[in-house]
Amino acid sequence: LILILDFGSQFTQLITRRIREANVYSEIYSHTIPIEKIKELNPKGIIFSGGPMSVYDDEAPDVDDKIFDLGIPILGICYGLQLISKKLNGKVEKASDREYGRTECEVLKSSVLFKDVKKKSVVWMSHGDNVTEPPSGFKIIAVSKHSPICAIENAERKVYGVQFHPEVHHTEEGVKIIRNFLFEICKCKGDWTPENFVSNSIKEIKAKVGPANVICALSGGVDSTVAAVLVKQAIGEQLICIHIDTGLMRKNESKEISELFNSKLNLNHIHIDASELFLQKLKNVSDPELKRKIIGNTFIEVFEKEAKKFENVKFLVQGTLYPDVIESVSVKGASATIKTHHNVGGLPEKMNLSLIEPFRELFKDEVRNVGRALNIPEEFIERHPFPGPGLAVRILGPVDKDKLDILREADDIFIKAIKQHNLYKKIWQAFAVLLPVQSVGVMGDSRTYENVLALRAVTSVDGMTADWFPFEPDFLAEVSNNIINKVRGINRVVYDISSKPPATIEWE
Ligand code: XMP
Repeated sequence: LILILDFGSQFTQLITRRIREANVYSEIYSHTIPIEKIKELNPKGIIFSGGPMSVYDDEAPDVDDKIFDLGIPILGICYGLQLISKKLNGKVEKASDREYGRTECEVLKSSVLFKDVKKKSVVWMSHGDNVTEPPSGFKIIAVSKHSPICAIENAERKVYGVQFHPEVHHTEEGVKIIRNFLFEICKCKGDWTPENFVSNSIKEIKAKVGPANVICALSGGVDSTVAAVLVKQAIGEQLICIHIDTGLMRKNESKEISELFNSKLNLNHIHIDASELFLQKLKNVSDPELKRKIIGNTFIEVFEKEAKKFENVKFLVQGTLYPDVIESVSVKGASATIKTHHNVGGLPEKMNLSLIEPFRELFKDEVRNVGRALNIPEEFIERHPFPGPGLAVRILGPVDKDKLDILREADDIFIKAIKQHNLYKKIWQAFAVLLPVQSVGVMGDSRTYENVLALRAVTSVDGMTADWFPFEPDFLAEVSNNIINKVRGINRVVYDISSKPPATIEWE
């Protein structure tokens, strides 16, 4: 384990990812972590992240002094370097020139941290303070134009610091520097692979579950499906999978994923068609938050009823991911609820179940790699995310069967075209939205007065920010023509060119 202490940098997750890419496991903790907890975790190395503050700010994030006495190698990045310098009696001062973006770094002295690193290379900086005197016992091992002390080391104490960000892509030798820290200094093995993750998880799940039964709601989403396949390998028939067709899914989706579960993933499951119930409860409901609440509650109601038919059920499988659980420093302050995301929240308490969350420590692309290690077909692993409330939040205003069918047809044409043009993997998420707006058109010789359909396609890495996808005009023309000609009820198609923020990905 490499422990990353977060001081509020926007790149903290990136450090973790770079380390994991080197097949070394790493976790992020807040800089406030008690020293006892660090001892308990017993990491092979510790990295201090960057951060937005100055070490001289009133509320500058700090770390327990005793961390330097543990004998565990430490690497400070940016703020991390400055903190090490300040705490070990070096000198940190406001720089006359702030240094942002690319600059050249020159290695001065041979250091294991820079083993096989070019003497001069491009690094990426973002800082306003400078270390002007290294702590005693430390050597200056690199310089840059505005940072005469760009990297320091105390090889004996195994404490290192760099002013630049080795974790960002623009730092040419960044990967090498991180690998040197991991393998040369911390002596990591590099055996954290998806295959090892699978075999370890299987052992852990078996031990945790014992003879109990475990239930799982199979929606068809990547995370919950990979989780179910993993748990199935661990405990076989003790896993009970339930798929609920809410009637709010895409064209043929419920049927197709059910077949896939049975034939390719060995996930026998109970298939419940609850579409009528969902539609009835959603009748005349326009408010997006109310739609979400109704769908969430109805889901729990249906699921609970089915699950109660089984005995000795003690656990629920969930596909929770690392970004939802990271204990990191928030520099954003309290954020308002924009949308309440629905998955199977509420179920564990209601049914008195413990959770099995095999991916609590993984990022989405790592889950995809675990899926590959479990031989889940690629077409499934690459599926775009789909919201729990499904098409109900893509029909603005009240939802009914006719509108759902219209939207399903249009969405299907759009997605098929994206796949045909080999664009599916380049896009984070693409879908159609049915608007409660009618406009005048002309078809043949007659006037039409039908609905407007919006197309949305975005690129993103985590769904937190997103940009609209720049389709070629010809592609948009083809899709628009096909939809207007083939889908009764739509006579106008528009393309959504809003980024997130200020818009969101979904329309509701
Ligand atoms: P927004 O619209 O908030 O969406 O920019 C970000 C990501 O979250 C998905 N999304 C949801 N997922 N339940 C879900 O499980 C929801 O209620 C929900 N609302 C939005 C959205 O599809 C996108 O991937």
